[in-house]
Amino acid sequence: MKKIDTVRAILKNQFAVPPKNNSATAYAPSNIALVKYWGKRNQELNLPVTSSLSVSLKEKGAEIILTVSDRSTDHIILNGKEIPPTSDFYQRFVNFINLFRAEIPVRFVAEIKSTVPVAAGLASSACGFASIVLALNKLFAWNLAEKELSVLARLGSGSAARSIWQGFVEWHAGSRDDGLDSFGEKLNTEWTDLGIGILLMTDAEKSISSRKAMQHTVDTSPFYATWPATVAKDLQVLKSAIEQRDFHLLGKTAESNAMAMHATMLSARPSIIYSLPETIAAMKKIWQLRAEGLPIYFTQDAGPNLKLLFLQQDFPTIQQHFFIQ
Ligand code: PMV
Repeated sequence: MKKIDTVRAILKNQFAVPPKNNSATAYAPSNIALVKYWGKRNQELNLPVTSSLSVSLKEKGAEIILTVSDRSTDHIILNGKEIPPTSDFYQRFVNFINLFRAEIPVRFVAEIKSTVPVAAGLASSACGFASIVLALNKLFAWNLAEKELSVLARLGSGSAARSIWQGFVEWHAGSRDDGLDSFGEKLNTEWTDLGIGILLMTDAEKSISSRKAMQHTVDTSPFYATWPATVAKDLQVLKSAIEQRDFHLLGKTAESNAMAMHATMLSARPSIIYSLPETIAAMKKIWQLRAEGLPIYFTQDAGPNLKLLFLQQDFPTIQQHFFIQ
């Protein structure tokens, strides 16, 4: 099954119909998983082995202005700079957008403003692909449901399925081969006191993409077999922590889940280690501060940077110890 089949299934009789508008603007937040997505059951469609749960980063994300163009090629301007057509970024963008314009000879100018560093494990691709889908939905006037937008965003990058909403989002793994039951769903609970800060070690591009690292782990790690059961349990605990606003339970579950994910990479053959010496030093500092009574936890994705979890009331104290963004 190809990605385009999913697009056809979602768009139905709106498939291959030209855009109804000339320009559309959309914003999608970046999201950080508290229970991670790590491993695919279908690589083409980005169908995950397990469900996952994230929290969105409010004003950190991607804004896109997508305009129909009369030029012969697409133009992408990222944070004010034109992206060369030979770059991976350009290729990924065009391949994704090609799914939606099918045989229609329409070209676009995409002006993207990203407020998260690109490819540093900060979910820049998640908010990027989600923002493209939201903008296309407006440009073509598809009027799709959020669930359907989530399925389409997933075709760009798995975690993009969770970037359609603010707040807490659960991405249901689904079980169908066509993936039409693999989409995000916003949880009803709001938790405004919950803070997330990015502890940036580097904004350099990651050494190995999450796509490659994920597959290598699934293929070679003897510990991967334990991962689905770990996730099932952590998901349940995390959802009840959110419902009860139990910060310690949320923090320790998210932190352990991230460590378990990295343990599957450590045990892959050969190993994958995203952490830098600074990452480990920061983890130890967090554990020390916590032992001294400061409620602070971390999570880590496919990169060396950490995301700190805390309560807003402790933000001033945390700022004394870390430079967070
Ligand atoms: O969506 P991708 O292919 O960038 O994979 C994201 C994987 C993690 O960030 C490590 C975990 C997650 O659930 O976001």
